[in-house]
Amino acid sequence: MVYKGDVPRFLASRPDSLLIPLPWDVPLAEWPAEYLVALPRGISRHVVRFIQVGSSVYAAKEVIEHLAIHEYRMLTDLRRTDTPAVEPLAVVTGRTDDHGEPLDPVLITRHLEFSLPYRSLFDHGVRPETVSRLLDALVVLLVRLHLIGFLWGDVSLSNVLFRRDAGQFAAYLVDAETAEIHESLTNGQREHDLTIATTNLYGEFSDLEAGRMLDASLDPLNLVESILSRYRDLWAELTDAEEFSGQETYRIENRVRRLNALGFDVAELDIRTSADGSTIRIQPKVVDAGHHSRRLLRLAGLDTEENQARRLLNDLDTFRARTNQGHVDEAVVAHQWLTECFQPVVTAVPHDLRGKREAAQIFHEVLDYRWYASQREHREVPLLEATWGYIQDVLQALPDEAMEATTLGLMSGEHRQLANPFDPSQGFTDDSGPMPVDPWETDDDDDVPDPGFLDIEALRRRGR
Ligand SMILES: Nc1ncnc2c1ncn2[C@@H]1O[C@H](COP(=O)(O)OP(=O)(O)O)[C@@H](O)[C@H]1O
Ligand SMILES: [Mg+2]
Repeated sequence: MVYKGDVPRFLASRPDSLLIPLPWDVPLAEWPAEYLVALPRGISRHVVRFIQVGSSVYAAKEVIEHLAIHEYRMLTDLRRTDTPAVEPLAVVTGRTDDHGEPLDPVLITRHLEFSLPYRSLFDHGVRPETVSRLLDALVVLLVRLHLIGFLWGDVSLSNVLFRRDAGQFAAYLVDAETAEIHESLTNGQREHDLTIATTNLYGEFSDLEAGRMLDASLDPLNLVESILSRYRDLWAELTDAEEFSGQETYRIENRVRRLNALGFDVAELDIRTSADGSTIRIQPKVVDAGHHSRRLLRLAGLDTEENQARRLLNDLDTFRARTNQGHVDEAVVAHQWLTECFQPVVTAVPHDLRGKREAAQIFHEVLDYRWYASQREHREVPLLEATWGYIQDVLQALPDEAMEATTLGLMSGEHRQLANPFDPSQGFTDDSGPMPVDPWETDDDDDVPDPGFLDIEALRRRGR
């Protein structure tokens, strides 16, 4: 069999055959609307479109060949190391148009469900605390990348997608075109990424400021500086050596606990004692992110973000104490908690509202709701009662964040109308839409203690 040179070729590990009949001979920017889905997305250099393939939604990016293949491989490596990034599906090469002129290849990734480009968060106005949480998420992602020897080369808010993670956010890498993977990174390489981060983020925050989307109390320069200091604090906490006297062995345990509290497990801790035993020196050699999410997955089979897992595990502990099962095997209690607490809440949510939030996020928000309700009413509000209240008072009013529902909203004009629904970077036709209610933005008297999981100083104080 002879294959003509001008038919598209697919590079893929698990190919989706439904991709094959798509109009690859048409430049992506000109694809007919029947193939496209309108979803919020960040600013980009290349033509990026969301395409509907069977029941899945994919992101397609038209980009020159060596970059498309390079990015595909980088994203594949990130999947392998369990680092939060979009999932690569295929690269389509060998495209030509009607006249036989070559077209750039297309990189296809799976659309990250429930993800929010930062612009769509800022569109609704965000509180200074929320900005701080977004930065924490970005810092955690950058540190995780650096720990595995990944030099990003294009750190920016536009190249990150955020997902809600209990009261925090989790950041996912979306653009790996400029990335390199090394055995490990030198300080110089890490500084290089930080310099790029500084430049890009300063630009992005200045843009937001110019568009009056940045709270007046925030200053682009301070924000960028705080990213650098948070990055350095976290990096030091995860990698620095610590020396103490031979009498203070509890400090080994302290260090491990601090790392756990930051969401990391210590796979290898190097412990050395001086010849006379008077000093001990410890240094984490290998740390893995996902301390809480791994534990929750093991106990309850739930795959969640790290801070959601932290919250759910706390609730599991409370359940265990409340039901007097301190002596019972943890996995057994976890199963009870799953069927008696978690699942009833999730199944109480009507189907048409499930596109608003992920299940674990809903559970977390119900716990918050119950806490407020109990405070207000001076009684212990039962979980299911709180769930119904939450659905009525909060969930119904929230904008949809899963892909399908958002799409419908945007297309039918229920929400703000995009100038070009397939290219959100062109903005909205009107700029004064209603402000959606967001529980993280509206509670001014926020007296639920903020977990502030990246507050390393507080962690150290706790250890003392
Ligand atoms: N898999 C995906 N899921 C969700 N959004 C995506 C995905 N891929 C790309 N996007 C959106 O498209 C935007 C541009 O993609 P990116 O890879 O950064 O393009 P460029 O290389 O042109 O900068 C991103 O900011 C993001 O909002
Ligand atoms: Mg980009």
